[in-house]
Amino acid sequence: MEGSVTDQVAIITGGGQGIGRAIALRLARDGMHVVVVDRQGAQAEAVADEVRTRGRQALALAIDVTLADARQVMLDATLERFGRLDVLVNNAAMQRAALPSDVTEEHWDALMNVNAKAVFFCCQVALRHMAAHHSGRIVNIASIAGKLASTIYHPIYNVSKAAVIAMTKTLALAYALEGIRINAVCPGVVDTPMQDIVDQEFARITGKSPAEIRAERVARIPMGRIEQPEEVAALVSFLVGPDSGYITGEAFNVSGGILAG
Ligand SMILES: NC(=O)c1ccc[n+]([C@@H]2O[C@H](COP(=O)([O-])OP(=O)(O)OC[C@H]3O[C@@H](n4cnc5c(N)ncnc54)[C@H](O)[C@@H]3O)[C@@H](O)[C@H]2O)c1
Repeated sequence: MEGSVTDQVAIITGGGQGIGRAIALRLARDGMHVVVVDRQGAQAEAVADEVRTRGRQALALAIDVTLADARQVMLDATLERFGRLDVLVNNAAMQRAALPSDVTEEHWDALMNVNAKAVFFCCQVALRHMAAHHSGRIVNIASIAGKLASTIYHPIYNVSKAAVIAMTKTLALAYALEGIRINAVCPGVVDTPMQDIVDQEFARITGKSPAEIRAERVARIPMGRIEQPEEVAALVSFLVGPDSGYITGEAFNVSGGILAG
């Protein structure tokens, strides 16, 4: 049985804003020390300060997770500062819209590099450490877009999130006997800076206003309101905590019922 998370250490990639920030603050509230990783270094530092004001220790790392050397620095700096790594949350991702007929290879490579390839190799670098200690939990932030073609306007984002779900299941099987649990979380439409970019990009493609796009997207949510980052963070908290100790290889929706109908 897994024990309390108090004084355990979590890395959150893309922790400088939006869902990643909410996860960092939630895991701090749960008692963990937090490594905030973001290519926007000033924002990572600001979130680390918020963690410290909540009485937990924090380390901010200005790191681009698409770079192999930087991923190793992420692990090494965490171990140097805290001497342990218990949890990795792969949250960093990017969004870009285009009709399927307009997708370029550059578009494919840019999105897949951050949203899928970097997630796999962040898992790999953390798992080498976790496997040596026969414990650890990883949560990969996927999306309902990895399970259904929620829109035709971001086809490669959809592909990248399906890849995250697939790698989560494979890695979970590979490390189940090592005492390491790996799950994915699939949010719906969350109120973050990324969502603002989605609205603007869809508006560019459709000729509608961002406000119209937002209203249409929210109208498709059975619960009738946009999701808050803290509602994603609550599921991550459960999946890294001891109450989910028998759960691995799953991809849980937290989407206000979008996939119910
Ligand atoms: N917002 C939504 O509606 C929604 C829905 C489903 C899934 N998600 C997923 O949730 C996660 C967080 O989304 P968000 O809405 O908070 O996004 P966001 O764009 O608001 O924040 C993402 C953060 O990741 C960082 N980041 C991006 N690329 C990086 C890189 N290469 N290296 C380091 N940091 C990098 C950014 O600097 C930013 O701080 C993403 O995986 C996203 O795909 C979001």
